[in-house]
Amino acid sequence: MDFNLSEEHIMIRDAARDFAQTELLPGVIERDNKQKFPKELVKKMGALGFMGIMVDPKYGGSGMDAISYVLIMEELSKIDASASVMVSVNNSLVCYGLETYGSEEQKQKYLTKLATGEFLGAFCLSEPEAGSDATSQRTTAIKKGDHYIINGTKNWITNGGSADVYLVIAQTDRDKGSHGINAFILEKSMEGFHVGPKEDKLGIRGSDTHTLQFNDVKVPKENRIGANGSGFRFAMKTLSGGRIGIASQALGIASGAYELALKYSKERKAFGTEICNHQAIAFKLADMYTEIEAARYLVMKAAWDKDQGNNYDKSSAMAKLYASKVAMEHTVEAVQIHGGNGFVKEYHVERLMRDAKITQIYEGTSEIQKIVISRSLLRD
Ligand code: CAA
Repeated sequence: MDFNLSEEHIMIRDAARDFAQTELLPGVIERDNKQKFPKELVKKMGALGFMGIMVDPKYGGSGMDAISYVLIMEELSKIDASASVMVSVNNSLVCYGLETYGSEEQKQKYLTKLATGEFLGAFCLSEPEAGSDATSQRTTAIKKGDHYIINGTKNWITNGGSADVYLVIAQTDRDKGSHGINAFILEKSMEGFHVGPKEDKLGIRGSDTHTLQFNDVKVPKENRIGANGSGFRFAMKTLSGGRIGIASQALGIASGAYELALKYSKERKAFGTEICNHQAIAFKLADMYTEIEAARYLVMKAAWDKDQGNNYDKSSAMAKLYASKVAMEHTVEAVQIHGGNGFVKEYHVERLMRDAKITQIYEGTSEIQKIVISRSLLRD
């Protein structure tokens, strides 16, 4: 067992850290205030290889491992969780889904552009009545000759207004339940595809979240991913990897808040000394550091499982469950350590606290992670 990062991993982490400091930090408060989506950053991150981190270079990707992916995600998330969710969805839901389950034609047509940042992707599973209960899909995809007709509504779609390529999960044969579900590749330009208003959110306000409406969208049958009826399994397998991305996002939010709190506690004075010299603050820092390290080991273990070809359904759920709890609890503590300044936007920790909450909700709530973990324990 080796807890050290390789030189290559350290270089990758440092490149992401530099990018976050120089490119993400300067506009992050304004993007949060104005809900501005940083589309220009997609191209810059594409040029650095961050949009197709684990994709094979023959499809335009960086060919890196999942450990590199979580290192990059942590560094981006320390500064801007809105930018990092865009990276996470594009990498672990859209690119991974296409590379693992797509046809060669689909990879050539879409993956090559998604992996370089030329295109941005979105993953469309959630519906008004199918959030946690993902098998209850109401969006329909009815086969008509050489194409499918898609009708329905998708909610809370990350990159919803800015994406070029959308992986849409829809019910083809209701009688077959989860085995009657398919996944399709849609393009925004397809007739009948409508992007609804942008959501006004508590956190990750720089990310672009929309409702989507499909009215008789005609999709060529070549755009179905995998065998007929494999869409639910596709969504579940893809989400297992997505949960590693969100776990590393939560880890980054927590460690970003910890770093800010540590620095502030060494500068701010009260009762004649820096506040870190008061045990009330020092013990908070000790708890934060310990639990963030524990979250890091779970995140790394899930990424390692993926790299080894092990099943990572349970380890990714554990990593997301724990890292998101740590992110929520310790961003609150970081605000507390900052006192009145913690309530002010320019100190960044209030934004990290607001951003942390979504990591307990999207890509499966904490309660869903407990279903996945407990079912796995009881089955094994
Ligand atoms: N791998 C392969 N197959 C799987 C699987 C997995 N990980 N999980 C389930 N399946 C299969 C089951 O084996 C089953 O097949 P059989 O009928 O052949 O046995 C079938 O799928 C149905 O599974 P379940 O009976 O377990 O289904 P369920 O209704 O009990 O639901 C659930 C399971 C885990 C709760 C699932 O619905 C779930 O994960 N819900 C949460 C959905 C979610 O994470 N949404 C996030 C939205 S995406 C997002 O947030 C992206 C973003 O923009 C940031």
